[in-house]
Amino acid sequence: MTTCRSVELTVDGEVLAVPLADPTESLAQMLRRTGRTGTHIGCANGDCGACTVLVDDRAYKSCVVPAWRADRSAVRTIQGLAPGDAALDPVQRAFRDEDGFQCGYCIAGPIMCLHALLRHDPAPSEDAVRSSLSGNLCRCTGCQQILRAARAAVSQRPDPSEDVDG
Ligand code: FES
Ligand code: FES
Repeated sequence: MTTCRSVELTVDGEVLAVPLADPTESLAQMLRRTGRTGTHIGCANGDCGACTVLVDDRAYKSCVVPAWRADRSAVRTIQGLAPGDAALDPVQRAFRDEDGFQCGYCIAGPIMCLHALLRHDPAPSEDAVRSSLSGNLCRCTGCQQILRAARAAVSQRPDPSEDVDG
């Protein structure tokens, strides 16, 4: 990839050409400009995970990814997981049912990391689940509720071959 003034990419299935605000704009900032405000910016330093999105099916902390690096990529945000306003995807449902969040500010991070994990490992071990979540900080739940929700998301997954991203 090279630097560019406009980024062409797919975000949550929508093909976009987005002019860069400036050469140092982060992917998180750009996504929020396109209305993906579910991608939260907490630390803006790669520490908390709140800004996590999938880029070509891998989880990235989008606050430390220059927007131009996503040129010609497929990005999926927390807002692209559920098929409609009235529905939740299975991982989101598990977090809701298991009280996996409180204020919700951090929660896109764990959920997107779990999606990335499940795309590459449909039946992950406890260690793999913990490892996938290790880059996420939550100031509300003490993380035990997140772990419980993550285990539920893995165990309740109806069919390991199902595409959790719908
Ligand atoms: S906002 Fe990106 S890691 Fe904290
Ligand atoms: S639910 Fe509030 S920071 Fe995690």
